[in-house]
Amino acid sequence: MAHVLSAGFETMDANNPNGSPKIRGYNIINGILTLSSDGSTFVSNNPAILTDELGEFPLSTKEDVHAALVAARNALPNWSSTPAPTRGQIIGNMGRLLMEHKDEIVRLETREIGKTLKESAGSVQEAIDTCLFFQSEGRRLYGQTVNSELPDKELFTYRRPLGVCGIINACNFPAAVPFWKMIPAIMCGNTCVWKSPQDAPLLSFALARIMHESGLPDGVINLIHGKGSGAGQHLVDAVDEGLVNKISFTGSTSVGKMIGEVCGRNLVSCSLELGGKNPLVVMPSANIENAVSGAYWAAFGTAGQRCTSLGNLIIHESIYDEFMTKFMEKVETTRIGDSLNHDDVLYGPMLSEKYANDFLEGVEMCNASGAKHIHGKGRITSNSAPTNFLAVADDGVYMWPHVYVDVTEDMECFHEEIFGPLVTIVKARDFDHALHLANASPYGLSSAIYTNDRLEAYRFKTGIKAGMTGINNSTTGAEAHLPFGGVKGSGNGTRESGIWVIEAYSYWHAVNDELSGKLQLAQMDVHEIEIEEAEADYGSLA
Ligand code: UN1
Repeated sequence: MAHVLSAGFETMDANNPNGSPKIRGYNIINGILTLSSDGSTFVSNNPAILTDELGEFPLSTKEDVHAALVAARNALPNWSSTPAPTRGQIIGNMGRLLMEHKDEIVRLETREIGKTLKESAGSVQEAIDTCLFFQSEGRRLYGQTVNSELPDKELFTYRRPLGVCGIINACNFPAAVPFWKMIPAIMCGNTCVWKSPQDAPLLSFALARIMHESGLPDGVINLIHGKGSGAGQHLVDAVDEGLVNKISFTGSTSVGKMIGEVCGRNLVSCSLELGGKNPLVVMPSANIENAVSGAYWAAFGTAGQRCTSLGNLIIHESIYDEFMTKFMEKVETTRIGDSLNHDDVLYGPMLSEKYANDFLEGVEMCNASGAKHIHGKGRITSNSAPTNFLAVADDGVYMWPHVYVDVTEDMECFHEEIFGPLVTIVKARDFDHALHLANASPYGLSSAIYTNDRLEAYRFKTGIKAGMTGINNSTTGAEAHLPFGGVKGSGNGTRESGIWVIEAYSYWHAVNDELSGKLQLAQMDVHEIEIEEAEADYGSLA
């Protein structure tokens, strides 16, 4: 088979409904384009126009996953001994190539997962920012020199790579999140097997090609496509076989717990970025217009398909009516459409049919939980569409924005993450009640408060159990150089992004160098200094 750099994109069909081609997608193992060992494939569709097929991709088998792991293992010695500044230069090249191809990648992301062009551009920019941040980390990746308690002896710390990393990301941030994971991983000298999200294989294929164009040696990042329950599971199972030294996963809490168990019993490190039921509190002192804008964006931007999207909107009862009037005006006029064809839409279709079906189950759960349903009618169809719906409903998988009020802590919909355009609204009696409600779900990813009372803001940020908090801001929009991650059901405490992520992809190696020419025992041969007795009477001074 051909090397990734010597082959262009292979068109299978140039007559898709929107005039874009259907591509033959490949795994990339040791730089070589490969099909699955049993020839099976799956198709990626545009969720705005389901008949638009982006490509056919290998449904990778256990054998394919193992071939990728072997390639990553073989590439490890050379890559980990490549000087870190050189690794950084390659990462910088990736950033520059992404900038050069940004517009094309953005349009592809929108075609494959239905995000608006503006949001796809944000996701690609986050990948670029990650490359720019880490390119110069190649010139740092600091260890320490540490003073010894013994003479003529030196102590040092070094960061060492973990080995072969298995990377599994969700399709909602298909450019940003794999870069969050793999850029620090390769910066630290690890190699990777990347299982692309089943709903974004073409974007992943394009990004992996760009990575190879940057000068990345073959085998350092190996791409395999397939199902989470197929190739993804084979990658996790390989931890039990001693073939993987790290798993980094973004996805559901239930799958994250399974991965945590497999890694735990093998003493293998794992980074888990899981679900959220992110609260946003609005207090009486808040600027209500800003709070409405922040809550509306957090709930319905990205069609509610960020792990940081708003879950429980917690409103102080004294401003509830005013807030809700303004909020519902926005919800009722939401512009929804296919961003490749319609300007200024807030959101597009669901990420895929699978996400659409899961969301409709969430709507059913809300209906059954006893909350009061005030807006939204499930799937948008030609017979049931909101006022500002601009697309052809039956072509894709579009959803109404949904609002549920009178939600209380005893309801299932208060606790469960619903991935899609739906917000559950809870009334709070006072600040303590609001903070209690904000902490009452099983998750702890993002959180937010709108208030102009500085003490309230302080008490919220110190009292909330969450990995991220916005003050007078929405729950979404973490920047690429701050730590990203959660507590409680949202993760295992590891972080992505910024300098902190380095901890997740390296271990500390402590080295001592004995120069004295003899055996000196730590703790035992240390020169002890006694406290001396003196005549001075300090009590007589004042
Ligand atoms: C995700 O949904 O998995 O903070 C990532 C945000 C984005 C990243 C979200 N920068 O909303």
